[in-house]
Formats: sequence, C-alpha cells, structure tokens
Amino acid sequence: MIQIHDKHFVPFISAEDIDAVLTKMALKAEEDHKGEIPVFIGVLNGSFMVVSDFVKKYTQPCEVSFVKLSSYEGTTSTNQVKQLIGLNQSLEGRSVVVIEDIVDTGNTVAELKKIFEGHNVKQLKIATLFFKPEAYKQDIALDYVGFEIPNKFIVGYGLDYDELGRNLPEVYQVQQ
Ligand code: IMP
Ligand code: MG
Repeated sequence: MIQIHDKHFVPFISAEDIDAVLTKMALKAEEDHKGEIPVFIGVLNGSFMVVSDFVKKYTQPCEVSFVKLSSYEGTTSTNQVKQLIGLNQSLEGRSVVVIEDIVDTGNTVAELKKIFEGHNVKQLKIATLFFKPEAYKQDIALDYVGFEIPNKFIVGYGLDYDELGRNLPEVYQVQQ
C-alpha cells in the first residue's frame, strides 16, 4: 500500500499488464493504418508514459506530437472554453489518433473531438489506456481501449493525484 497526500492506494494494474495491453493496442492501430502515416497526438500531462510506450510498439512509420488542453474562463466561470495548446502542424487530410491516459466522464474527449474536427482531418480515432464506462456520459465511440475499470480513482503511469504519483511505473487504486 502507498500513501499520496491524504489517501491510501493499493496496487491495481502491474507494469507487465500495461505493457501487454499496449502491444495489443498498437497492433490494432497498425492494422487500421495500413499504407498511411498516422499522427499520434498525446494529451498532456497524463499521457506522456502511454504515448512513449505505445509508439515503441508501433512498428510502422508514424508521427508523434503532444498537445495540452487548457480551460480559460469566458465572461462567467460557467462559460469555460477549452483551448488547444501546442499544435504546430497542419492536420489537414491526416489520420489522427488522439492518445489519452484515461477517459472518465468523456468531457475531455468531447472537447478534443470538436477541436480536431475543425482541423479537416481525414479520420479521427481515440485511444485510451483506461476507460471508466460507469462514469462515461458521451456517445462517442472509443477506438482503442486498454482497460475498462471501475469508477474508482487511480494513480500512476502518468496519472496523478493532485500532481503526485505520475512517475509510478504501475497503477494504484484508491482504498475506500
Ligand atoms: P474526463 O472526465 O473524461 O473529461 O476526464 C478528465 C480528466 O480527469 C482526465 O484526463 C484525467 O486527467 C482526470 N481523471 C479522471 N479520472 C481519473 C483517475 O482515476 N485518476 C487520475 N486522474 C483522473
Ligand atoms: Mg489530474
């Protein structure tokens, strides 16, 4: 068991299991992108480890890039607009695969989809290492899902609890 800030966490998914699932995801992505060069776009901060390990298992030519989603407040605090930071290439006509660490309510995925559709991409696919189906509120299909997990908080492998825990090589689940 480990402690981060005020919470205790128990081991949940090992580094070996993550590795195995990323191999499967990369293979599936390879089959889906035969004869083209996809652009893999990681969403920072959480996805840095997923992207790093995923692309090492992708054996065909690909591009790799990262973006950050920032929310700045509009005229009222409820009027939040998400903005994409760091995209410095044209995605027109490209097959884009957005790589997320975790999809929870799906709000982030919905924002990303809206933004990338504005870039005239050829095709947009969503990859996520973790997916919480019980929390998901969107009807956007997820193309590559590593693990479907219960609606409990997890840390490690890029995921943080109040900025700590990202460096853990395996994943821990909050103890309740
Ligand atoms: P969304 O609700 O799908 O938009 O997810 C929003 C963000 O919440 C994710 O990108 C993560 O940064 C964070 N998040 C959701 N669930 C967890 C979790 O279990 N552990 C750590 N971060 C999480
Ligand atoms: Mg976080």
